[in-house]
Amino acid sequence: LTTLSRRQAGKSGQHLFLSSLRNPQEKTSDVAFALNTLGRLWLSGIQPDWPAFHAGSEPRRLPLPTYPFQRQRFWIDKPATPQTLTAGQSRPGKLSDIGEWFYSPSWTRCPWVSKSADGANNVSGRAWLVFTDGSEFSARLVERIRAQGCDPSVVKLGKHYNKDGDKGFTINPRSPQDYFLLTEDLHRAGTVPRTILHLWCHSPSITDAASAATIDTWQSLGFYSLVYLSQALDKISVTKPIKISVVTSQAQEVLTDDTLIPAKAMVHGPCVVIPQELTNVACQSVDVAAAEVSNWNIQKLDALLADVATESSGNVVAYRGSHRWTRTYSPLPLAPTNAKPTLLRQRGTYLITGGLGGVGLLLAEYLARTVQAKLVLTGRSEVPPRSQWSKWLASPDNDERITEKLKAISALEEMGAEVFVASADVADPQAMRRVIHDTQSRFGKINGFIHAAGIVNGPTDGAILDLDKENCAQIFCPKVEGLLNLASLVQEADLDFCFLTSSLSSVLGGLGFSAYAAANVFMNAFAYTQNQTQSVPWLSVNWDAWLTEQDSDIPLRVTGMSSQESLETFDRILSLGQAGQTVVSISPLEARIEQWVKMDRSRDGALKQESQIFSQTHGDQEKLTAENAAGNQATQI
Ligand SMILES: NC(=O)c1ccc[n+]([C@@H]2O[C@H](COP(=O)([O-])OP(=O)(O)OC[C@H]3O[C@@H](n4cnc5c(N)ncnc54)[C@H](OP(=O)(O)O)[C@@H]3O)[C@@H](O)[C@H]2O)c1
Repeated sequence: LTTLSRRQAGKSGQHLFLSSLRNPQEKTSDVAFALNTLGRLWLSGIQPDWPAFHAGSEPRRLPLPTYPFQRQRFWIDKPATPQTLTAGQSRPGKLSDIGEWFYSPSWTRCPWVSKSADGANNVSGRAWLVFTDGSEFSARLVERIRAQGCDPSVVKLGKHYNKDGDKGFTINPRSPQDYFLLTEDLHRAGTVPRTILHLWCHSPSITDAASAATIDTWQSLGFYSLVYLSQALDKISVTKPIKISVVTSQAQEVLTDDTLIPAKAMVHGPCVVIPQELTNVACQSVDVAAAEVSNWNIQKLDALLADVATESSGNVVAYRGSHRWTRTYSPLPLAPTNAKPTLLRQRGTYLITGGLGGVGLLLAEYLARTVQAKLVLTGRSEVPPRSQWSKWLASPDNDERITEKLKAISALEEMGAEVFVASADVADPQAMRRVIHDTQSRFGKINGFIHAAGIVNGPTDGAILDLDKENCAQIFCPKVEGLLNLASLVQEADLDFCFLTSSLSSVLGGLGFSAYAAANVFMNAFAYTQNQTQSVPWLSVNWDAWLTEQDSDIPLRVTGMSSQESLETFDRILSLGQAGQTVVSISPLEARIEQWVKMDRSRDGALKQESQIFSQTHGDQEKLTAENAAGNQATQI
């Protein structure tokens, strides 16, 4: 029929002929064909009935580099070099000396932010939204905004959504719906904020930091509040730049006597990831000392507001006494050692949670090889009882993943290890108590544990716009509840060390990683709190991407740490034996922070090739972060 219609239209070339059904010769799906036709109609200026088209589904806007009129090339080119790179060779930016991969978190003093000469960071002349917690500090900051000629919208904590006059709102922090109602009302009133000051996490915590109630409170006021707020901002399709500054206390360790509430620190997960996923939103985290803020004078309150009103005044800053600090990472050169790490004992007993996962098994292999350890490997999945192993291994029809694990356990035993495999959810107190009891009966005293249980999600299941409490809870389970459970069970065990496998995502974020990054930040902060009160060293290592056996199909084994390199980092960290947080980054960390956290677009050229190579790999953290680098160039459709 299209051919027939074309004949009737003359030769003016003003008509567009589209078919809604494919030619039988075309090998494509009918739905894809119809959607393509719809897209072409839209491109030619016709406005389809979108509500009818989307009926029954809940579509959302996704920033993609597909805007056809921008005349900008977004295609990710195939790297010119992959065929010439082989396993073990350096990728661009990967430091060949493993000794240069280590960093310690640190802080640098820097001046207060003053008002810029061009007025760019003036408090007045911008729409402010302030989340207040009813404290005197919040009230004084709102007063200072008003004193500078601006009338901010103010959101208070309450049980239900309420609009209190023109500029006042009450919301329930646990209700995503309330955040939607808030942004819709702001949108309707033409007061969509440009600057958001979030003050719900600056008050001191008065309850036990590890109690379920404390964790729930600070997750709701911090982590979930930012997640729901960004979802609500997206719902009203804001494309203008917005800056969210989250003011916390006890979320950053700046001075040695600072105390931390790990659940408060989790807000840093979304703080890093929101700007990576929502390209128009910037986030800043500002930590203050709760005991000091009542003494802040007007100059200091105004300096904080200037800090918040400045587009890029620092992603992670802190105020202590009269000083302003920014987060940095100091290189921690670690040379190879030939001796057995001091933290390990020959034939020592080590419990590895997630011990049958990719990282867990590699660490088990290291301990088997180095000290012929007695190993307890735990995970939620069941493995068949030993008596059935030979029958299981003989049958090719059995689950291949379990077969691989049984083979790996046998290999550990051949290296001289004794292995006890136990099925238990690390967050289940009874199950873990039983594991510890069984371990002690079988092997005697436990000498150390490695917490490698974790769930790593990715951009498809962890995007901030799709997050809900249920999927966050899955990610938090092993690293938050599981860690607390483990810590309480081994409290009296007089261990040589406690080792947490945290991730570099706690520093760099990554697409789909707001919950995962938050869970890893929790582990870093928890290790800090333990080191303040205990003599047992707690180590939290923020590892770069591991390439494990499951990644053997990756053509380019140069995008993360090879198994050998990963174990070399483990060896050097254990040999150092230094308690606290250590960051492992295979390429210079500051450059990655500039590119992916501070969003320094000027370095695009320098890191382009690195991103291209990353994008060839599986959905590990490095790919996500690299995709983000490309994603930042996206336009809104
Ligand atoms: N792979 C990397 O590149 C990388 C980089 C940095 C940090 N890390 C960290 O290293 C750890 C291990 O990662 P991986 O790559 O080895 O992941 P993996 O292969 O998926 O292993 C994780 C293991 O944790 C277990 N697990 C999950 N939830 C659990 C729970 N509630 N209780 C007990 N066991 C649980 C899983 O076993 P079941 O399903 O049987 O429970 C699984 O065997 C994670 O914490 C991750 O954050 C990994």
